[in-house]
Amino acid sequence: MISAQAPWQTLVRLELLEMLGEHIEFPEPDFRLRYLFDHFPCDQLTATEFGCWYGWHTVPLARKFKHVTAMDVRPGNVAKTLLRLNLLNVKNVDVVLANVEEVEFETDVLVHIGVLYHLFRPAAHLHQVLNKCQTICLDTHINKPDLQPVTEHYNGETYTGGLYKEYGWKDPLSGVGAHSLWLDEHVLRSVIAKHGFVVVHEERHVVPAGPRLNLVATRNIYV
Ligand SMILES: C[S@@+](CC[C@H](N)C(=O)[O-])C[C@H]1O[C@@H](n2cnc3c(N)ncnc32)[C@H](O)[C@@H]1O
Repeated sequence: MISAQAPWQTLVRLELLEMLGEHIEFPEPDFRLRYLFDHFPCDQLTATEFGCWYGWHTVPLARKFKHVTAMDVRPGNVAKTLLRLNLLNVKNVDVVLANVEEVEFETDVLVHIGVLYHLFRPAAHLHQVLNKCQTICLDTHINKPDLQPVTEHYNGETYTGGLYKEYGWKDPLSGVGAHSLWLDEHVLRSVIAKHGFVVVHEERHVVPAGPRLNLVATRNIYV
């Protein structure tokens, strides 16, 4: 029934759910979570995960953190995350249907993987959410030369980046609007620094859509 409501296009290893979807092996936990898991006292901390998709990162996060709140804007993604958590008997997660540009929250660690580059006002969003966490695990595309230059204005400041065309509501991995803004790397770093966060780990990687940066930045020195 759930597959009929929202097609099950998962690339995630589904364990008990494999019979419901195409099975392609993905490592779990993903490399972007490893630094957090190895260097932070996760069992004493809460995590909020933005853009949980089908719960790929949610399950390993729940196994490490005291409590996880996982959010996604697509009802189909929320339903599949709930189903996955229930079948795997994971109890310490709240799954919330929400647009992360509008949500109220407080958390120790914000897990922000694959969502910032789907927003049209990423600088405003970053300024808001960095006030509500102590640590952020951020993985995002950064601007690349073939995108049309574009600017975002927030609180009297100008933020530069490139304009990217989104794939639309029916794509379970996409943003909400027609376009998003991929921030210039120095702009992204300056917003994070302005909130007193220090980058304690970073990795670059490239996927077919372009270059990505994975940062762990914190105001608390656990490491
Ligand atoms: C590229 S996927 C990343 C999924 C997962 N975090 C990962 O790393 O594999 C983007 C996810 O963010 C969700 N998303 C996009 N824009 C959102 C928004 N404004 N509020 C909440 N979720 C959003 C999408 O529905 C999708 O599940």
